[in-house]
Amino acid sequence: MKIKLQLSKIIENALKNANIEADDVVISDATKPEFGDYQFNGVMKLAKQLKQNPRQIAQTVVEHIDTTGIIAKVEIAGPGFINIWLGDAWLSSEATAILDDERVGVGYVDQAQKVVVDYSGPNMAKQMHVGHLRSSIIGDTLATLLEFLGDEVIRQNHIGDWGTQFGMLIAYLEEQGTDGVTQNLKDLEQFYKDAKVRFDESVEFADKARDYVVKIQQGDKHCLRLWQSFIDASLGHCEEVYDKLGVNLTRDDVRAESFYNSKLPSVIKTLKEKNISTISDGAECVFLEGDETPIIVQKGDGGFLYATTDLAALEFRVQELKADRICYVVDARQAQHFKQVFAIAKMAGMVAENVTLEHIGFGTMMDKSGKPFKTRDGGVVKLIDLLDEAVVRARETIKERKTHSDEALEKVARAIGIGAVKYADLSISRESNYLFSWDKMLSFDGNTSLYMQYAYARIQSIFRKHDGVITGSIVVGDEIEHRLVLMLLKFEDTLIKASIEATPHTITSYLYDLVSLFMKFYEQNPILKEGIEEEVKMSRLQLATLTAKVIKKALDILGIEVVNKI
Ligand code: ARG
Repeated sequence: MKIKLQLSKIIENALKNANIEADDVVISDATKPEFGDYQFNGVMKLAKQLKQNPRQIAQTVVEHIDTTGIIAKVEIAGPGFINIWLGDAWLSSEATAILDDERVGVGYVDQAQKVVVDYSGPNMAKQMHVGHLRSSIIGDTLATLLEFLGDEVIRQNHIGDWGTQFGMLIAYLEEQGTDGVTQNLKDLEQFYKDAKVRFDESVEFADKARDYVVKIQQGDKHCLRLWQSFIDASLGHCEEVYDKLGVNLTRDDVRAESFYNSKLPSVIKTLKEKNISTISDGAECVFLEGDETPIIVQKGDGGFLYATTDLAALEFRVQELKADRICYVVDARQAQHFKQVFAIAKMAGMVAENVTLEHIGFGTMMDKSGKPFKTRDGGVVKLIDLLDEAVVRARETIKERKTHSDEALEKVARAIGIGAVKYADLSISRESNYLFSWDKMLSFDGNTSLYMQYAYARIQSIFRKHDGVITGSIVVGDEIEHRLVLMLLKFEDTLIKASIEATPHTITSYLYDLVSLFMKFYEQNPILKEGIEEEVKMSRLQLATLTAKVIKKALDILGIEVVNKI
């Protein structure tokens, strides 16, 4: 239900009928219940333009507002705000109409776009760590959301699989024996450390490592085979994590840095031809206005850099993948990098005007003491361990409730544990640093996934208790039901906002408001109590049905499972 759009059309019409010229009409949510459901705050601006009294203009607009359909009442407040109340009859019939809709009233975007979502992007030489968790979770939600709204999404996993460190790694892999490659690479971090020790202690090994760097670059078959088996094993680790997390990335979505190798010389050629880059200190550099240091696109020894690869990738995404919008879900600390890459790409004419490039930055994961998240001994936390711990803790949290058999408990613990990690990550505004706390994320209260999953399970238990068919319409009977139905109908506007701003926390905040409201409704308006009129009971049951559907859909988009019992 695009409520805001409908309201702005009504206000536009009112303005037109009152002969008032205005540009965009923006409708806001009312900040307090006494200000109605929505507000139009544009009168003051109009008053300034027309040099007239705002209250006078508001009065004229109000007289022209059509209150026969969606709007029940309008009121002028303060210096010229127009407060808007929606009608109970309209709310009731709209809510009833979407009861059987599997999209719960959410339509498709008017203009579907082709969107590249670049996320996860782990580095193959290292164990995937918590830093990549945020990208995987946020990126996956964004991709699912855009797809749900009708965009064509192309997922791109820009893995780091190229660079001088691979010479050392494959030389060491060869030494260790490639037979048990997966076993040897079980702990990548350790493997890297051991290889480095060998590199430092043996001149012979170091020479070989350097030789292998050159050899992979020249396409030497033996070295490439070693490299490929290394990448396969490393990617295998990542896939284990994706699997546990329920992140929808497959091998088909991998377009690694090495994929762009053959395209790098032509990037440099373009930059040179267009006089965007120049030689400085032997390296090919771009000097951007306002930047203190240049961006190196090719080193003196001919090597290319992270930025060069990203330029090639950008060109590929625009020209081959035909993207209209490209979202880079990458650590906020790379903001400068993306600003520069986007600027150079535009200067070089690699992107058409209508293509939007967005760095979807996110903050760092911190521990309780405010330091970047590490294990107790100071090492990097392995994602897989973190996720396993989440499930163990979730099991502890719900075990004493004794609702489940051991087998069922396992499944529920997984939904709750993994859900907690994901939700905690998605629910803070993404640019902020993120304080990791087990207790907070596994709490039954507050803005947590468990709170939402618990509400969903409670609604299911109401249905089990009712044990009969649920039919009939939703009929808004009081203030709390008015607010609950309005909230349910706001789902589409919420998803649209989240998709434009690429902010999953818009959805979690919505869920929190919705579920809090439902709990209040349930407290005030008991559903199954003796003596309630049948029609009222059915309407309330239907309200519970729709609430459960919206909760499930929202969690679905966030990649979080619901369970029927907790
Ligand atoms: N591998 C990079 C890192 O771990 C992330 C890649 C992000 N994507 C991109 N197109 N640069 O920092």
